[in-house]
Order: sequence, then structure tokens, then C-alpha cells
Amino acid sequence: MSCKARLLLGITGSVAVYKVCELIRLFRKEDIEIIPVMTPDSKRFISPLLIESLAQNRVYSDMFDESGGAFYHIMLSRGVNLILIAPATANTIAKIASGMADNLLTSAVLASEAPVLIAPAMNVKMFENRITQQNIDRLSGLKRFSFIMPESGELACGDVGAGRLADIQDIFDASMPYLLDNKLLSGKKVLVSAGPTREFMDPVRFLSNPSSGKMGYELARVARWLGAEVTLVTGPVSIKPPYGVRVINVVSAEEMKTAILNAKGRYDLLVMNAAVSDWRFDKRHTQKIKRNGSSLSLLFRENPDIISLASKSRKFGFIVGFAAETENLNDNAADKMKRKNIDAIVVNDISRGDIGFGQDYNEGRILFRDKTVVNIEKSGKRDMALRLFSEIAKRQKWVKT
Ligand code: CTP
Repeated sequence: MSCKARLLLGITGSVAVYKVCELIRLFRKEDIEIIPVMTPDSKRFISPLLIESLAQNRVYSDMFDESGGAFYHIMLSRGVNLILIAPATANTIAKIASGMADNLLTSAVLASEAPVLIAPAMNVKMFENRITQQNIDRLSGLKRFSFIMPESGELACGDVGAGRLADIQDIFDASMPYLLDNKLLSGKKVLVSAGPTREFMDPVRFLSNPSSGKMGYELARVARWLGAEVTLVTGPVSIKPPYGVRVINVVSAEEMKTAILNAKGRYDLLVMNAAVSDWRFDKRHTQKIKRNGSSLSLLFRENPDIISLASKSRKFGFIVGFAAETENLNDNAADKMKRKNIDAIVVNDISRGDIGFGQDYNEGRILFRDKTVVNIEKSGKRDMALRLFSEIAKRQKWVKT
């Protein structure tokens, strides 16, 4: 995904600074221009050369750099989409909260009107100190500032409690809505279903499929980046849900049906990406079935077709399904779209091993109710999600083109 965005990344003197390398890598992968601004103390923890190499940009630190002159802080913060401070020490937060401008980073914050996202990292006592909490409250009360709060756990100093820098992927996800120039889904409510369902036959055995949830999770992540309020209804998977998304965990198709149809309110969009098991066992045994030397016959029952029920419910403004096919891709998908009375269907060929189930890549085409077809070349699941939302937003006239 390529977005023409500029990020001023403020780095302060916390032990957690080593984690910023991974964060820089995530931003660069999305082609985001990074302007690294390091406080003097942060340079004692990590070499500017390392930051410079990863960010592919020089590090700024000196208030009165020869080339920039006395207006360096103003020049740097101009045209920036977001100022992200990660990790942010108690000291830097305190200085910003009281309007101080004693180094290049605090001066740039004061001299700019760009939104500021702060990821604190410090000792638990420092974080829980009323002074720090008051500084955080003070800044949170201003529209321009938001925080991604630290996690609890064991801290570098050996103490246990809140103060550990938030998860790097979460900091990245929390930043992305500011960096995408296109708020395609701004103000929209989106429900995404993802992953497989499991139909248990007894307490230890189930019927399922190899869906990893990657496509659905990327859909939820990107919808959030694009400004939507996102609910993710997910079957059991082993990946972490994206930041800022409401998650409802389910196991069986019946539970998924209830979660989707009973989700509170009306949604602009339902993206039904889950690989729902078509059958369940007629009977779920409460005790483990023992073998007895002979064969075992079990009766299956059809599961409800959730997307068809969603279409009947009139709860969703636009409904898109996914069809994993092995033959006659277009005909099978078009037939499914009609049968399920939905607005669009994304079809892909699961007979190929390099795309779809469990893979990082996908390829396919989107068939719309009006018979138009959009081909999506092999791309990362994230790019595919963006493409799908762009096409839907265009058709629904959610954005002026
Ligand atoms: N789907 C659903 N409920 C089901 C089965 C499928 O909501 N019980 C949804 C899927 O999430 C997907 C779409 O329907 O968006 C198509 O899924 P697919 O398994 O291809 O459709 P089926 O109707 O099960 O058709 P097939 O006989 O090819 O498996």
C-alpha cells in the first residue's frame, strides 16, 4: 500500500527505544516518509545511525543545526500528517503539557498544528504518579493530542505494572488513520466476519477448515485505517486482532449467526469473509466418543446460511461475500451472489496453493450485482482489502471522486 504521508517520529530517552526500529520498518513498508527527531537523551540509548539507516532519512536533533538555522523546528513540522512520539518519557510528556520548547522535538510539537499521538513508556511509579496522570489528562483534553496507553507487565527495571510501551503493531495501527490521505469509510459502520468456524462432535473433536483469518483481519484493519467503526466477528484463529476494532469471538456457525444478526444497530457494510462450516454434527456428544473396534457413523445437519439471513434482515446497507471456488469461478460466484441476494462477491481460486487459505497473498475478482467485474491482481491481503473498499465506496458514492 503506498500512501504519500509524512510522519514526524519523535524518539525520547526510554529503554523501550530499541522497539522503535520495528516500528520504523512497518511505516517504511507502507512507503511512509519518516522524519526522525531524537531528543538528546534518546541518543544515549540508541545510535542515530541505526535510526537513520532504517528510516532512510537523516535524524534531526539539534535545535540550531547549521543548515536549518533558527527556524528549524518550524520547518520540520510543516506538511506533517502526524507527530508520533514513541517511546514518550514522563519528562517529555510533562514538558509538552506545560508548553515547554527546550529541544527540537518539544519545539516542533509547539510550533505545529498536526495531530500528536503519544505512546508513553516508563517505570510504573512514574506512570501512575498523579503528576504524570494529570499531564496526560491535560493533553487528552485537547483535540490535537491522543495517547496509546502502555501495557502492564514486567518492566525493564524489574518492577511489574503499567508502563511498558504499547505493542508496536498497535502503535502502527493507531497511527495509520492519520496517515492515509483517503478517509474512504469515514463515519461508516462496518462488520467483518473472519476465520473458520468449528463444529464440535464431542468435547475434543471438531469439523473445521484451514482458514487462517488473515484476509478477514486485514479487512478489519484496513476498514479501521480508512475511518470506519469496525466490529470483527471472528472464529478461532491464532493471529492478533487489529487495534481499535471491536472483537466478538465465536466458535460455531450458530454462534457466528447470532453475533452478526444480533449486533447492535445498523451497519453500512457487511463483509462476510468467514469460512463458515456448511455442516454441523446432528448431535454434540457431551462425553468423548470412545472407539470400540467398529466404524462410526455420524449424521450432519446443514448450518444456517448466515449471509442470506443477513440479507433478509435489512440490517446492512451493502453486503459482500467471498467465494472460494475450485472450478467455474465466475459462474459459481455469480450464482451464489444471486442465491444469497447480496450486492457483491469476491471470488478466488483455492485450487492454487500460492493464494487464499493461509497465504499472505490473494488474487481474484469482484463481481457486483450490476454484473460489472473488477479484477484484482495478485497482491498482499492488505492491498486487496483496500482495493475492495475503494470499489465499494466508489459505487456507494461514499466519497466524491
Ligand atoms: N456463508 C455464510 N453461511 C454459511 C456458508 C457460507 O454466510 N453457512 C457465506 C461465506 O462467508 C461467504 C459466502 O457465504 O461469504 C460464500 O461461501 P461459500 O462457502 O463459498 O458458499 P456456500 O453457500 O457454502 O457454497 P458451497 O456449496 O460452494 O460451499
